[in-house]
Amino acid sequence: MARHEGRVVFVRHALPGERAVVRVTEDRQPGFCRADAVTVLEPSPERVQRPCPHSGPGRCGGCDWQHATPAEQRRLKAAVVREQLARLAGLDVEVVVEELPGGPLRWRTRARFAVDRSGAPGLRRHRSHDLVLLDDCPITVEPAARAVLDRRWPGAGAVDVAVDSVGTVTTTRLDRRGKPQSTRVLRSARPIPGEDAPAEPAGRTARHAAGRDWEVEGTGFWQVHPAAADALVAAVGEHAAVRPGETVLDLYAGAGLFGGALAPAAGADGRVVCVEADPAACAAAEANLAGLPQAEVWQGEVDAEGLTGLLEELGTAPDVVVLDPPRAGAGPAVSRVLAAAGPRAVVYVACDPASLARDVAVFGESGHRLAALRGFDAFPMTSHVECVALLVPA
Ligand SMILES: C[S@@+](CC[C@H](N)C(=O)[O-])C[C@H]1O[C@@H](n2cnc3c(N)ncnc32)[C@H](O)[C@@H]1O
Repeated sequence: MARHEGRVVFVRHALPGERAVVRVTEDRQPGFCRADAVTVLEPSPERVQRPCPHSGPGRCGGCDWQHATPAEQRRLKAAVVREQLARLAGLDVEVVVEELPGGPLRWRTRARFAVDRSGAPGLRRHRSHDLVLLDDCPITVEPAARAVLDRRWPGAGAVDVAVDSVGTVTTTRLDRRGKPQSTRVLRSARPIPGEDAPAEPAGRTARHAAGRDWEVEGTGFWQVHPAAADALVAAVGEHAAVRPGETVLDLYAGAGLFGGALAPAAGADGRVVCVEADPAACAAAEANLAGLPQAEVWQGEVDAEGLTGLLEELGTAPDVVVLDPPRAGAGPAVSRVLAAAGPRAVVYVACDPASLARDVAVFGESGHRLAALRGFDAFPMTSHVECVALLVPA
């Protein structure tokens, strides 16, 4: 962030402390404008050559920080989380963003590429609908990049791709409105580096995490970074510290990753309820939790009304709530209902620090304080960060 004649300038492709010539790219608001650093006059010691030839000013908008060392990227992410918690929740928290194994490239096991009118795939420029045609995307795992970028997709608007732990590549063509047109599954002999392959390939796509295998629906939700599921399960388990006989809610459960991993600790007398809106993810969760009689899957929307009904039906207050909402976060209404249910621990997994900070503030007003926070660099080269927060009764 720079200042010019009293106005704020948000500068992409620069690093804190650098002197640079910038080109204004957007000037629509009285208080601020946006710009790209086009010539760096005094580089930061943390500046590096961008590994991806498609990134940089005016080019692919997929990555934000290809020009920074991975250590600097993690420092910047920690600063962002810290600033959001200060600004939105009034908290002063030390934040460390931890590195995941595998390096900063070839970590993306799920991606959506856009397709132009001629059928050529690529990614969009930053804050633009313009497409940058690509022959490679170095943050995407090789089999996924090759499956999409080595061919044309006439008639499609976008393509979703996912690669599982045994190398099965699933592509889903989407029309120009984002509706799925068709899905194709390709088996490959090469597993994803960083994910141990399951002993037996299970189901249509198979992921290995937390010491066991999981079925996932095609290009459906699974943690994108090959090491993220293990790291997040460990952090959630540590924060939740589930005891035998406890009741655990796993909200926004996807294929049941956290609920399935926590169920053994709740034991035969415990209860784990996974709540998920997407029917295909619920079907995968049912399969994944089949061997855990204390775990169940409830299909439904997590909103204030649905949650109130669920808590009534449950008949007992949850001891632990794990929630892993999409970027928009759980929101104030859901956070208030959860806090009022009086769990001894709320473990909030968040991919948007601003949404997390807003909801932490609501939990604070409702009697739950932030007791611990871990950050993970689950999206290297981008400004995105995954956080696992523990809230306990104040
Ligand atoms: C970030 S993913 C988390 C999945 C799972 N915890 C995991 O780590 O694999 C969020 C999930 O929430 C689901 N979801 C989104 N909005 C929802 C809502 N309002 N109610 C219930 N589930 C929702 C999505 O379908 C998705 O599976």
